[in-house]
Amino acid sequence: MAGSGARRRLTPGSVLAGLLLGLVLILLPAALLARPVAAATTVRVLMPSPFVDATAELVAGFNRDHPNLKVEVARGPLDTEAMSDLAIGGLLLGDTAYDLLLMDVSWTAKYVAAGWLLPLEGLLGDDALEAMVPGARVGNAFGGHLWRMPLTGDTGLLYWRTDLMAAPPRTTTELEAVARRLQAEGKVRWGYVWQGRQYEGLSCVMLEMIHAFGGQWWQVGAGPAGGQTELDSAGAIAAADWLVQLVRSGVSPEAVADFAENEALQLFAAGDAAFLRNWPYAWREIEKGGGPVVGKVGVSTVVSAPGIHSGGTLGTWGLSLLAGSPHPEAAAEVIRWFTGPETQKALVLDQGYAPTWAVLYEDSELQQQHPLLAVQRQALEQGPLVRPLTPLYAQLSDLLQRQVNGLLTTAGSAADAMGRAQGQSAVLLESTAGHGRGSEPQARAAGRGPTWLPSQAQQRQQSA
Ligand code: GLC
Repeated sequence: MAGSGARRRLTPGSVLAGLLLGLVLILLPAALLARPVAAATTVRVLMPSPFVDATAELVAGFNRDHPNLKVEVARGPLDTEAMSDLAIGGLLLGDTAYDLLLMDVSWTAKYVAAGWLLPLEGLLGDDALEAMVPGARVGNAFGGHLWRMPLTGDTGLLYWRTDLMAAPPRTTTELEAVARRLQAEGKVRWGYVWQGRQYEGLSCVMLEMIHAFGGQWWQVGAGPAGGQTELDSAGAIAAADWLVQLVRSGVSPEAVADFAENEALQLFAAGDAAFLRNWPYAWREIEKGGGPVVGKVGVSTVVSAPGIHSGGTLGTWGLSLLAGSPHPEAAAEVIRWFTGPETQKALVLDQGYAPTWAVLYEDSELQQQHPLLAVQRQALEQGPLVRPLTPLYAQLSDLLQRQVNGLLTTAGSAADAMGRAQGQSAVLLESTAGHGRGSEPQARAAGRGPTWLPSQAQQRQQSA
């Protein structure tokens, strides 16, 4: 029995063990003292290239102020699709090279369904979005979790020339009439420029126009993907027809079929068009460019067909935490700083990004320097349009872009093009039936719906 008083016998082995133990006890404090100061934690963020440039100084400032926490930014491509492809390439390989990803709002459902994101509410609090303008909160939290903290609150907007008209048009009919008159008077070469290239920007334009003509791209609820498309509705066909007629009648240049945001912006900034469809950053970009329209640009919400109240497509980029991040707490601290009001204020002043925090829309310095804020707040409060919230969104968007872009460059009819887009979308949704739910084993085991799927009420509110 231990402690019975029996003496232990000394053996050569136990003497050696004792000596070693003594040596360790002597050397240990010295080893502890000599240990290098804990290395700084590095949080790695992957962002599209314009955001890397826009935030470079702010990140350098953060790194100067935080000796123990470093932000390392990796540069991704410009376009949202190429950026997502790059991120997914790494994620499919189980590569956790990044802690944070700056995500387009249109990616979230897919990333959540694939299990690539970690919920943020435990790190940032259940009320993390509460002080944001309502529209800016949309598309970040669903299925009972917060997946993304938005850094920008952008929506599609209509830019117009204050030197050529007293007020912006409110309807598609007015826009076309004013554009034609100004073209006939030789005031501008083109009436309206927008994004017609086969890329995500065209899907954003189409979403606005489908709603502007009384249709909807996505009907929430039915089917295993959480909804179904309605691209062959009268409203959707009228939308495609309006756009193609703008090109065929010369209100928009044929080249619009190859325009992304920058091409349209440059043409408008050069004084060659009466109207431009773009995101909020375009205003600052035009002002910085110092071209002939500086000081002559008004900003308004996008137009819709007479009698229909519509809105702009919800853009927005936000930070999400990637599953596998070795230090989620540190990453959450970086999210708090990166998406916080101070950083966003600097980005409004410098880059013209639309903020998400309500308090920044009240800020008098910002209001003075950035007249667009009032309209932007209105666009966000009116319920911006959300792209279909489904993990299959990228494929659905691709099908729509192809058909509409094809229509712009051929002699086909809008009804045929949209009929094809609808048929192909239906095949896609059917052939991947169960995709979203099937990829959510944990949620199913717990008897819940898939975590990517917003409740029907949420979806209705988000696409209202
Ligand atoms: C802007 C929007 C984004 C959209 C993209 C399309 O970056 O913020 O949501 O997908 O434009 O080009």
